[in-house]
Amino acid sequence: MAVPLSSGTGRRRVPSQNGRLSVEVVIVPDAKAGGALIAGAMADLLRRTPDALLGVATGSTPLPVYEALAARVRSGSVDTSRARIAQLDEYVGLPADHPESYRSVLRREVLEPLGIGMDAFMGPDGAAEDIPAACEAYDRALAEAGGVDLQLLGIGTDGHIGFNEPCSSLVSRTRIKTLTEQTRVDNARFFGGDVGQVPHHVITQGIGTILEARHLVLLATGEGKADAVAATVEGPVAAVCPASALQLHPHATVVVDEAAASKLKFADYFRHTYASKPDWQGI
Ligand code: F6R
Repeated sequence: MAVPLSSGTGRRRVPSQNGRLSVEVVIVPDAKAGGALIAGAMADLLRRTPDALLGVATGSTPLPVYEALAARVRSGSVDTSRARIAQLDEYVGLPADHPESYRSVLRREVLEPLGIGMDAFMGPDGAAEDIPAACEAYDRALAEAGGVDLQLLGIGTDGHIGFNEPCSSLVSRTRIKTLTEQTRVDNARFFGGDVGQVPHHVITQGIGTILEARHLVLLATGEGKADAVAATVEGPVAAVCPASALQLHPHATVVVDEAAASKLKFADYFRHTYASKPDWQGI
Protein backbone atom coordinates (compact mmCIF):
# COMPACT_ATOMS: atom_id res chain seq x y z
CA MET A 1 0.00 0.00 0.00
CA ALA A 2 1.25 3.49 -0.82
CA VAL A 3 2.29 5.48 2.20
CA PRO A 4 1.43 9.14 1.79
CA LEU A 5 2.60 11.40 4.56
CA SER A 6 -0.14 12.51 6.87
CA SER A 7 0.70 16.18 7.05
CA GLY A 8 1.70 18.57 4.29
CA THR A 9 3.44 21.75 5.24
CA GLY A 10 1.84 24.01 2.65
CA ARG A 11 5.19 25.70 2.01
CA ARG A 12 5.63 27.46 -1.30
CA ARG A 13 7.17 25.18 -3.92
CA VAL A 14 9.90 27.52 -5.06
CA PRO A 15 13.35 26.05 -5.67
CA SER A 16 16.09 28.00 -3.92
CA GLN A 17 18.56 29.54 -6.36
CA ASN A 18 21.17 30.32 -3.78
CA GLY A 19 22.76 32.93 -5.99
CA ARG A 20 23.34 30.95 -9.17
CA LEU A 21 21.56 29.57 -12.19
CA SER A 22 23.70 26.76 -13.53
CA VAL A 23 24.63 23.22 -12.68
CA GLU A 24 27.36 23.37 -10.10
CA VAL A 25 29.97 20.64 -10.43
CA VAL A 26 31.95 19.79 -7.31
CA ILE A 27 34.90 17.44 -7.78
CA VAL A 28 35.83 15.59 -4.59
CA PRO A 29 38.74 13.22 -4.00
CA ASP A 30 36.62 10.14 -3.34
CA ALA A 31 33.17 8.78 -2.53
CA LYS A 32 33.59 9.31 1.20
CA ALA A 33 34.30 13.01 0.70
CA GLY A 34 31.26 13.28 -1.56
CA GLY A 35 29.12 11.59 1.08
CA ALA A 36 30.36 13.95 3.78
CA LEU A 37 29.73 17.03 1.63
CA ILE A 38 26.16 16.06 0.79
CA ALA A 39 25.37 14.91 4.34
CA GLY A 40 26.57 18.36 5.46
CA ALA A 41 24.12 20.02 3.06
CA MET A 42 21.32 17.80 4.36
CA ALA A 43 22.24 18.65 7.95
CA ASP A 44 22.19 22.39 7.15
CA LEU A 45 18.80 21.96 5.51
CA LEU A 46 17.42 20.14 8.56
CA ARG A 47 18.68 22.93 10.82
CA ARG A 48 16.84 25.51 8.68
CA THR A 49 13.80 23.33 8.02
CA PRO A 50 13.44 20.57 10.64
CA ASP A 51 10.53 18.92 8.79
CA ALA A 52 12.30 18.99 5.42
CA LEU A 53 11.24 16.36 2.91
CA LEU A 54 14.39 14.58 1.75
CA GLY A 55 14.14 12.67 -1.52
CA VAL A 56 16.39 9.63 -1.48
CA ALA A 57 17.78 7.26 -4.09
CA THR A 58 18.82 3.63 -3.70
CA GLY A 59 21.77 1.80 -5.25
CA SER A 60 25.40 1.81 -4.15
CA THR A 61 26.35 5.42 -4.81
CA PRO A 62 24.35 7.19 -2.06
CA LEU A 63 25.52 4.88 0.74
CA PRO A 64 28.38 7.18 1.86
CA VAL A 65 25.84 10.00 2.19
CA TYR A 66 23.57 7.94 4.43
CA GLU A 67 26.53 6.73 6.49
CA ALA A 68 27.84 10.27 7.01
CA LEU A 69 24.39 11.58 7.93
CA ALA A 70 23.79 8.68 10.34
CA ALA A 71 27.12 9.47 12.03
CA ARG A 72 25.92 13.05 12.56
CA VAL A 73 22.67 11.76 14.03
CA ARG A 74 24.57 9.47 16.42
CA SER A 75 26.81 12.34 17.52
CA GLY A 76 23.77 14.53 18.17
CA SER A 77 24.72 17.21 15.65
CA VAL A 78 21.62 16.60 13.51
CA ASP A 79 18.04 16.27 14.67
CA THR A 80 15.97 14.05 12.36
CA SER A 81 12.97 13.80 14.68
CA ARG A 82 10.79 15.83 12.28
CA ALA A 83 12.52 14.92 9.00
CA ARG A 84 10.52 13.25 6.26
CA ILE A 85 11.71 10.88 3.55
CA ALA A 86 10.40 10.39 0.00
CA GLN A 87 11.28 7.49 -2.26
CA LEU A 88 12.42 8.08 -5.85
CA ASP A 89 11.46 4.83 -7.50
CA GLU A 90 10.32 1.27 -6.85
CA TYR A 91 10.30 -2.08 -8.60
CA VAL A 92 6.93 -3.22 -9.90
CA GLY A 93 5.81 -6.64 -8.78
CA LEU A 94 8.05 -7.17 -5.75
CA PRO A 95 6.08 -7.40 -2.51
CA ALA A 96 6.81 -4.39 -0.26
CA ASP A 97 8.54 -6.67 2.26
CA HIS A 98 10.85 -8.28 -0.35
CA PRO A 99 14.41 -7.57 0.85
CA GLU A 100 15.29 -5.87 -2.45
CA SER A 101 12.14 -3.78 -2.79
CA TYR A 102 13.37 -0.22 -2.58
CA ARG A 103 11.08 0.36 0.36
CA SER A 104 12.89 -2.42 2.29
CA VAL A 105 16.27 -1.13 1.16
CA LEU A 106 15.46 2.41 2.29
CA ARG A 107 14.15 1.18 5.63
CA ARG A 108 17.46 -0.65 6.22
CA GLU A 109 19.85 1.92 4.78
CA VAL A 110 18.18 5.24 5.53
CA LEU A 111 15.23 5.21 7.91
CA GLU A 112 16.61 2.95 10.65
CA PRO A 113 20.12 4.46 10.74
CA LEU A 114 18.63 7.98 10.81
CA GLY A 115 16.05 7.08 13.46
CA ILE A 116 13.13 8.02 11.18
CA GLY A 117 9.87 6.05 11.45
CA MET A 118 7.74 4.70 8.60
CA ASP A 119 5.08 7.31 9.46
CA ALA A 120 7.48 9.92 8.04
CA PHE A 121 8.10 7.94 4.85
CA MET A 122 6.31 8.09 1.53
CA GLY A 123 6.78 5.96 -1.55
CA PRO A 124 4.96 4.56 -4.58
CA ASP A 125 3.18 1.24 -4.29
CA GLY A 126 4.99 -1.16 -6.63
CA ALA A 127 2.65 -4.00 -5.67
CA ALA A 128 -0.55 -2.10 -6.48
CA GLU A 129 -3.13 -3.77 -8.73
CA ASP A 130 -3.74 -0.46 -10.47
CA ILE A 131 -0.26 0.81 -11.26
CA PRO A 132 -1.30 3.99 -13.16
CA ALA A 133 -3.49 4.99 -10.20
CA ALA A 134 -0.61 4.29 -7.80
CA CYS A 135 1.69 6.50 -9.90
CA GLU A 136 -0.79 9.36 -9.97
CA ALA A 137 -1.44 9.01 -6.25
CA TYR A 138 2.27 9.26 -5.49
CA ASP A 139 2.80 12.30 -7.70
CA ARG A 140 -0.14 13.99 -5.95
CA ALA A 141 1.08 12.96 -2.49
CA LEU A 142 4.47 14.55 -3.14
CA ALA A 143 2.81 17.85 -4.02
CA GLU A 144 0.44 17.65 -1.05
CA ALA A 145 3.41 17.06 1.25
CA GLY A 146 4.78 20.43 0.16
CA GLY A 147 7.27 19.12 -2.41
CA VAL A 148 10.74 17.64 -1.99
CA ASP A 149 13.27 20.02 -0.43
CA LEU A 150 16.43 18.19 -1.47
CA GLN A 151 16.44 15.28 -3.90
CA LEU A 152 19.50 13.06 -3.86
CA LEU A 153 20.10 11.30 -7.17
CA GLY A 154 22.46 8.67 -8.49
CA ILE A 155 22.99 8.23 -12.22
CA GLY A 156 22.87 5.13 -14.39
CA THR A 157 25.68 4.26 -16.78
CA ASP A 158 23.17 5.22 -19.50
CA GLY A 159 22.42 8.62 -17.93
CA HIS A 160 19.16 7.66 -16.21
CA ILE A 161 17.98 9.47 -13.09
CA GLY A 162 15.38 7.70 -11.02
CA PHE A 163 14.53 5.06 -13.57
CA ASN A 164 13.91 7.50 -16.37
CA GLU A 165 15.77 5.56 -19.01
CA PRO A 166 17.13 7.22 -22.19
CA CYS A 167 14.47 8.93 -24.31
CA SER A 168 12.18 9.52 -21.33
CA SER A 169 10.17 12.69 -21.69
CA LEU A 170 11.82 15.59 -19.91
CA VAL A 171 8.40 16.67 -18.61
CA SER A 172 7.32 13.17 -17.50
CA ARG A 173 5.42 12.56 -14.28
CA THR A 174 5.57 9.52 -11.99
CA ARG A 175 4.76 6.48 -14.12
CA ILE A 176 5.72 2.92 -14.98
CA LYS A 177 8.90 2.42 -17.00
CA THR A 178 10.62 -0.58 -18.55
CA LEU A 179 14.24 -1.02 -17.50
CA THR A 180 16.88 -1.34 -20.18
CA GLU A 181 18.79 -4.62 -20.27
CA GLN A 182 21.91 -2.65 -19.25
CA THR A 183 20.20 -1.40 -16.08
CA ARG A 184 18.96 -4.90 -15.26
CA VAL A 185 22.49 -6.27 -15.71
CA ASP A 186 23.88 -3.40 -13.57
CA ASN A 187 21.37 -4.22 -10.80
CA ALA A 188 21.75 -8.01 -10.89
CA ARG A 189 24.36 -7.69 -8.12
CA PHE A 190 21.51 -6.95 -5.69
CA PHE A 191 19.76 -10.18 -6.75
CA GLY A 192 22.61 -12.63 -6.19
CA GLY A 193 24.05 -11.88 -9.64
CA ASP A 194 21.00 -13.40 -11.34
CA VAL A 195 19.70 -10.93 -13.92
CA GLY A 196 16.61 -13.11 -14.33
CA GLN A 197 15.51 -12.05 -10.84
CA VAL A 198 15.65 -8.31 -11.62
CA PRO A 199 12.15 -7.01 -12.38
CA HIS A 200 11.58 -5.56 -15.85
CA HIS A 201 9.37 -2.72 -14.67
CA VAL A 202 9.56 0.09 -12.14
CA ILE A 203 7.56 3.03 -10.94
CA THR A 204 9.72 6.12 -11.08
CA GLN A 205 9.21 9.77 -10.35
CA GLY A 206 9.17 11.42 -13.75
CA ILE A 207 11.78 13.92 -14.84
CA GLY A 208 9.21 16.71 -14.53
CA THR A 209 8.42 15.49 -11.03
CA ILE A 210 12.10 15.36 -10.05
CA LEU A 211 12.66 18.87 -11.40
CA GLU A 212 10.09 20.19 -8.90
CA ALA A 213 12.37 19.46 -5.94
CA ARG A 214 13.90 22.65 -4.57
CA HIS A 215 17.49 21.40 -4.74
CA LEU A 216 18.78 18.52 -6.84
CA VAL A 217 22.02 16.85 -5.75
CA LEU A 218 23.44 14.16 -8.01
CA LEU A 219 26.31 12.03 -6.75
CA ALA A 220 28.39 9.97 -9.21
CA THR A 221 31.45 7.94 -8.35
CA GLY A 222 33.74 5.65 -10.34
CA GLU A 223 35.01 5.59 -13.90
CA GLY A 224 31.94 3.72 -15.11
CA LYS A 225 29.91 6.92 -14.66
CA ALA A 226 32.37 9.26 -16.41
CA ASP A 227 30.66 9.27 -19.84
CA ALA A 228 27.21 9.77 -18.30
CA VAL A 229 28.49 12.63 -16.13
CA ALA A 230 30.11 14.39 -19.12
CA ALA A 231 26.88 14.07 -21.13
CA THR A 232 24.86 15.34 -18.17
CA VAL A 233 26.90 18.44 -17.52
CA GLU A 234 28.57 19.32 -20.81
CA GLY A 235 26.27 17.77 -23.39
CA PRO A 236 23.06 19.21 -24.78
CA VAL A 237 19.82 18.96 -22.81
CA ALA A 238 18.42 15.88 -24.48
CA ALA A 239 16.10 13.04 -23.56
CA VAL A 240 18.76 10.59 -24.67
CA CYS A 241 20.62 11.55 -21.48
CA PRO A 242 17.82 12.05 -18.94
CA ALA A 243 20.19 13.48 -16.31
CA SER A 244 20.94 16.41 -18.65
CA ALA A 245 17.55 17.77 -17.52
CA LEU A 246 19.42 19.01 -14.43
CA GLN A 247 20.59 21.86 -16.66
CA LEU A 248 17.01 23.13 -16.60
CA HIS A 249 16.91 23.38 -12.80
CA PRO A 250 17.79 26.59 -10.98
CA HIS A 251 19.64 24.81 -8.18
CA ALA A 252 21.34 21.59 -9.23
CA THR A 253 24.60 20.27 -7.81
CA VAL A 254 26.61 17.43 -9.33
CA VAL A 255 29.15 15.94 -6.92
CA VAL A 256 31.69 13.65 -8.59
CA ASP A 257 34.84 11.87 -7.55
CA GLU A 258 37.98 12.18 -9.67
CA ALA A 259 37.19 9.01 -11.64
CA ALA A 260 33.65 10.10 -12.52
CA ALA A 261 35.03 13.55 -13.44
CA SER A 262 37.70 12.11 -15.73
CA LYS A 263 35.85 12.90 -18.99
CA LEU A 264 34.86 16.49 -18.11
CA LYS A 265 36.45 19.03 -20.46
CA PHE A 266 35.82 21.84 -17.99
CA ALA A 267 37.11 20.01 -14.90
CA ASP A 268 39.73 22.67 -14.13
CA TYR A 269 37.15 25.43 -14.41
CA PHE A 270 34.80 23.53 -12.06
CA ARG A 271 37.62 23.04 -9.55
CA HIS A 272 38.55 26.71 -9.69
CA THR A 273 34.94 27.85 -9.34
CA TYR A 274 34.28 25.69 -6.31
CA ALA A 275 37.58 26.61 -4.64
CA SER A 276 36.80 30.31 -4.96
CA LYS A 277 33.12 30.36 -4.00
CA PRO A 278 32.03 32.19 -0.87
CA ASP A 279 31.63 30.01 2.24
CA TRP A 280 28.11 31.25 2.93
CA GLN A 281 26.83 29.81 -0.32
CA GLY A 282 27.09 26.13 0.55
CA ILE A 283 26.28 23.73 -2.27
C1 F6R B 1 17.85 4.16 -7.67
C2 F6R B 1 17.96 5.08 -8.80
C3 F6R B 1 18.94 4.86 -9.89
C4 F6R B 1 20.36 4.71 -9.38
C5 F6R B 1 21.32 4.44 -10.53
C6 F6R B 1 22.74 4.28 -10.06
O1 F6R B 1 16.88 4.61 -6.76
O2 F6R B 1 17.22 6.00 -8.84
O3 F6R B 1 18.87 5.95 -10.77
O4 F6R B 1 20.73 5.88 -8.70
O5 F6R B 1 20.90 3.28 -11.20
O6 F6R B 1 22.85 3.16 -9.26
P1 F6R B 1 24.20 2.87 -8.46
O7 F6R B 1 24.36 3.96 -7.48
O8 F6R B 1 23.97 1.54 -7.78
O9 F6R B 1 25.28 2.84 -9.48
